[in-house]
Amino acid sequence: MLGVCYYPEHWDESRWQTDARRMRELGISFVRIGEFAWSRLEPSRGEFTFGWLDRAIDVLHEAGLKVVLGTPTATPPKWLMDECPDIVPYDEQGRPRGFGSRRHYTFSSETWWRESARIVEVVAERYGKHPGIVGWQTDNEYGCHDTTLSWGPEDLKSFKRWLRLRYQSTDQLNEAWGSVFWSMEMNSFDDVVLPNLTVTEPNPATRLDFWRFHSDQVAAYDKMQCEIIRKHSPDRWITHNFMGFVSDFDHFKVADNLDLASWDSYPIGFVEKFPFTEEERNRWAETSHPDIAPYHHDLYRAVGKGRFWVMEQQPGPVNWAPWNPVPKPGMVRLWTWEALAHGADVVSYFRWRQAPFAQEQMHAGLNLPGLDEWSPGGREAMQVSDELAALGSLPETSQAPVALVFDYQSYWSTMIQPQGKDFRYEELCFRWYEALRHLGLNVDFVRPGGSLEGYPLVVVPCMTEVSEAARAELEKAKGVVVIGARTGSRDRNFRIPENLPPGPLGGLTGNRVVQVSSMRPGLSEQVTGTVSGSAIRWREYVETSASVLATFENGDPALTEKDNVLYLACWADSGLLADVLELATQKAGVATLRVPDSIRIRRRGDMVFAFNYGTTDWALPEGVTPVLGGANIAPQEVAAWRV
Ligand code: GAL
Repeated sequence: MLGVCYYPEHWDESRWQTDARRMRELGISFVRIGEFAWSRLEPSRGEFTFGWLDRAIDVLHEAGLKVVLGTPTATPPKWLMDECPDIVPYDEQGRPRGFGSRRHYTFSSETWWRESARIVEVVAERYGKHPGIVGWQTDNEYGCHDTTLSWGPEDLKSFKRWLRLRYQSTDQLNEAWGSVFWSMEMNSFDDVVLPNLTVTEPNPATRLDFWRFHSDQVAAYDKMQCEIIRKHSPDRWITHNFMGFVSDFDHFKVADNLDLASWDSYPIGFVEKFPFTEEERNRWAETSHPDIAPYHHDLYRAVGKGRFWVMEQQPGPVNWAPWNPVPKPGMVRLWTWEALAHGADVVSYFRWRQAPFAQEQMHAGLNLPGLDEWSPGGREAMQVSDELAALGSLPETSQAPVALVFDYQSYWSTMIQPQGKDFRYEELCFRWYEALRHLGLNVDFVRPGGSLEGYPLVVVPCMTEVSEAARAELEKAKGVVVIGARTGSRDRNFRIPENLPPGPLGGLTGNRVVQVSSMRPGLSEQVTGTVSGSAIRWREYVETSASVLATFENGDPALTEKDNVLYLACWADSGLLADVLELATQKAGVATLRVPDSIRIRRRGDMVFAFNYGTTDWALPEGVTPVLGGANIAPQEVAAWRV
């Protein structure tokens, strides 16, 4: 169940045998290679130098390792960029983004599609049937470094084409966008301009379409690569390594073409990426927040239709966050076990050996910089490998009691028109997830319109546009459904629905939102009733025919209930959110196990795992016999038992 990311091209060939042998010693089965190697595979147009990769794959294969080969499209080489300037992406300020790192291409460029297809074809054809190759990774981390959206001439050209297909006529386009407002009407698709560099804010409907267009392009581009690989490489699976907290494209749509999802887990790096408070950042600086990695494991398990890997696991300090502490001893092991507890098929470390050169020389590996010597993270990986061998195979993950409906488009919509500066969709989902995990619950993510069957509890933190499919599933749901603010607040054209929010869910919730108010940091409103706490950031003024379970200070409904559906008309602070979700579990008959702030538990089949992110011991529940760890879990320790 362990793997590693390896760059044979970074090391003298004389070292490969030793590397492969030591990988086996550590208990590694899978090696991902090749995803940035274009300049070594094709140093100039049409001149292919495959010899080294042939030999590298053979060495790994002969050592008994299974190879996952990456397509090298995240790093188009210099000669290609010089030859084809229309590949270059543009930032929102309209500036071309330069060569010299990676992901310097726009998904809109036809030339880029042609060049990608060409290199993928050549690589897939050469290695597709190699017995050492068990799977493929397309590209590397779509969207990372803000590379989903691009704002250049190629993007405008493709955007126009996409709009023509979507709207057929400018009348329909003008109608959908409400272009009569501020005289934005267009007489021809040629009049379309990019929604950037405007005097004040551009039309939100245009921006949403621009986002959807880019998201569609990522999925189509990935599909193009998958089709070529499948043609040449039968019986191998294909994945893509998604990144944490990159939501600029719909990952579910990309994964529709994949056999499994994978993601790159840098728990400590993400502490700086996520809008935590400074206090939280300091508290979790050397362990990460206990829900950061789990949240993504659960998300990507859903994206992968039940199957996911961690393709890159942080093995020590990283290099790319503003501060990069060394993880506390035990954390690399803990993160590995945690991924497995959440259902990962494989955890693969990034990277085999720390590189003493170039951009990532401050990024740890399983081996010290340039050496054949285990790093502290390497030794922890070895411990996991021994423990895995002792435990035998892990049971399958079963359906969780809670479904969290996650919607990429809601992230785009609330970014486009936040109304309150701190209404952040990802943060909202994360806080709901965190509150559920405090109750000791397993959580499944579900895409909008995905089946909610068999879930006693369904939560929808926010879903700005409620599609027909999403409405139908929510109406069919037999469990308790908790719906958050701003759900159904826009239709597909980014308009306020005719019957007012929550639009298509008006009947289901019994509510009509007549006004919304965003609140400055520091301002809040008391909520009292069956639940209590504070509304912060966002509050809605709701007319309701449902029962009112809690009210704001002026007596307006804050939490309503109609049959099995609860509606929460605000952004809840942690106390209120905990109350609401606990109430929902009670109504749903879902058993909970309240755990301290720094403890998390996760069930995989008949095994329960517990993780200690804190600074004091935690005693396992009475009567359980650990099969991993002891009855007391020390800080940064893991335990597991069977039920
Ligand atoms: C990932 C990326 C890797 C490496 C790593 C460093 O985002 O896929 O290539 O850069 O970060 O943490």
